[in-house]
Amino acid sequence: MTRALLLSFSPHGKAAQTFKLARALLTDLVPDAQVSERDYGSQALPALTREYATALTTPGGLNADAMALSEQLIVELQACELLILCTPVHNFTVPAALKAWIDHVVRIHRSFTLNEQFAKVGLLGDRRTFVLVSSGNARKGHEPDFLTPYLTAILATVGIHSVEFIYLGAMVRGEAAVNRALEQAHRQLSAAISAGL
Ligand SMILES: Cc1cc2nc3c(=O)[nH]c(=O)nc-3n(C[C@H](O)[C@H](O)[C@H](O)COP(=O)(O)O)c2cc1C
Repeated sequence: MTRALLLSFSPHGKAAQTFKLARALLTDLVPDAQVSERDYGSQALPALTREYATALTTPGGLNADAMALSEQLIVELQACELLILCTPVHNFTVPAALKAWIDHVVRIHRSFTLNEQFAKVGLLGDRRTFVLVSSGNARKGHEPDFLTPYLTAILATVGIHSVEFIYLGAMVRGEAAVNRALEQAHRQLSAAISAGL
């Protein structure tokens, strides 16, 4: 049995095309998967509290109450063997909803630590991860992509290195374009998931 964590960071939540595609493929290709689905896009995580920020930045500032939500999200992430993040591009980068999840999950002394050279070292362990990225523009060429390098770096910070990106571009250019993007992503994701079974 594969424990999968499927997260949506779209304002459309579980109705986002990326989320529906990922869920359908998991049902078809990994029927024995135990899937935890979360909508952190339309039901956004709360803003960081002052207590949480203080706990993270004060030596010896451990504060279990302030870190309770962070702990819950980290435990949920740690428990999965297969992680799928479904996210739109917002203004060249990750949406605020995904950044909020990152700020709760990337926590010093818990999901990463510092080595003697003060470099960040991940503590969560690697796991197979897919990032389904939905954008209005066709992906290549026209605008900067801060999402891919940022997510690659921040996931590596907590120890997740096996990350594959699947891009659904031109999603605002009408039904035919959406269908083309979905078909291509379906092919890529099913091939990638099947290869890992
Ligand atoms: C606030 C906002 C900012 C956006 N910024 C970009 C952008 O920088 N580049 C882009 O290609 N598309 C951008 N888009 C378009 C979305 O990425 C696109 O519609 C995507 O398919 C939405 O995915 P979703 O339905 O899963 O949320 C933006 C959309 C919104 C609402």
